[in-house]
Amino acid sequence: MSSFSFDPRISETFTSPTNIAVIKYWGKNDVKLNTPMNSSASVTLDQSDLHTITSVAASKEFPADKLWLNGVETELNGRAQTCLREIRRLAQDRVDETTGAILVAKNDWPLYKVHISSVNTFPTGAGLASSAAGLACLVKTLAELYCIKEEYPGQLTAIARQGSGSASRSLYGGFVRWQKGEKADGTDSIAIQVADENHWPEMRAVILVVSDKEKDTSSTSGMETSRLTSPLLQFRAASVVQPRLDEIEAAYKAKDFETFGRITMQDSNQFHATCLDTYPPIFYMNDISKSIIKLVHVINTFFSRVVCAYTFDAGPNAVIYTLEKDVDLVAAVMAKYYPAPGSPEDYCNNPAEFSRIVNNEISRLVTPELTAKLNSTGRIPTAGDVKYVFLTKSGPGPIKQPLSESLLDPASGLPVPPSSKHKKMKI
Ligand code: DP6
Repeated sequence: MSSFSFDPRISETFTSPTNIAVIKYWGKNDVKLNTPMNSSASVTLDQSDLHTITSVAASKEFPADKLWLNGVETELNGRAQTCLREIRRLAQDRVDETTGAILVAKNDWPLYKVHISSVNTFPTGAGLASSAAGLACLVKTLAELYCIKEEYPGQLTAIARQGSGSASRSLYGGFVRWQKGEKADGTDSIAIQVADENHWPEMRAVILVVSDKEKDTSSTSGMETSRLTSPLLQFRAASVVQPRLDEIEAAYKAKDFETFGRITMQDSNQFHATCLDTYPPIFYMNDISKSIIKLVHVINTFFSRVVCAYTFDAGPNAVIYTLEKDVDLVAAVMAKYYPAPGSPEDYCNNPAEFSRIVNNEISRLVTPELTAKLNSTGRIPTAGDVKYVFLTKSGPGPIKQPLSESLLDPASGLPVPPSSKHKKMKI
């Protein structure tokens, strides 16, 4: 294998978060531009629990653009190539931070090819919005490398949108809206930060990775079938989403969990209803997912308030939003009804916290009265129905990393394994 060195000053490394929508994007207006039928909104999750890390280096020595995903050389697909092309179009001079010397003049960039190495700390196929984190990270890292200048505010998010719609929202932390836009060229189909990650620091997410034997319908093909066949999707996009979006944004700003949680659940339910309304129908949730929904509603009814709110993407995994004051209760119910098959280390990203909940909080918080109601859903605690639990919270957008975290070796131009901070979790 040939190897090619690069100047480490002409490289960048970033980590990027995933995000979980509370108003779902489903259906495209324009497949080529990847613009949506409706606006959407999401909460960005904390990168210390789940992230993608990407390094990009440019060199005249590289004969071709190359990509390694999780250490394996992979073709740059059409959407990633579109992102690369768009970023290159906006490139400016790259200047050495310490000396001020020009490292690459704007007009010389066409002489340079890139090597890209990207690693997910969570399994790509686990249905945890890996494309959102991955494409956002690619676009952010390339944008820094090429020192791009946006032609209009939000252009970077419009580029990420062309990589994967949900990726546009991962460029910001906190609560983010991706507005549908009106222009035919897609330039106003951009993501906007509604509130940053410090606005509602009590926001928590309990993620249950649900065991699933079936292969999912990819979101890209699923949403196209829905667009062509579901009258409910047309109604949703035309009449339901915008008022919901206005209401949930106001709720987030006012830290009104009651409204935030209710709309989150209603919108997840309507998204899955459009999947059922698609012909032939698409099923993303399974019986385990449905049992989680029932338990959440029992908790909320028992306490006569919205304690927690579920949402499901194009797969069976549950993301349950709750607040810091209630997270022990929610985690205790879930740990009781979806027990770990083995050690907490293999079941949760925060095993110490999970053990504390199992050992102290289940008996304290899941009272006999609450247990009786939870049991009435028919759920019988069974180990293995949930593969993994993340205890996480909301967090910031992409974070620049020092050269010491780079996934590319300047001497060979080839990928190196990530440091222990970015170790892949076993799920
Ligand atoms: C159900 O962003 O993965 O998670 O634009 O085709 O890449 P493409 O789709 P993608 O779809 C995400 C769909 C969803 C809802 C959401 O995140 O808003």
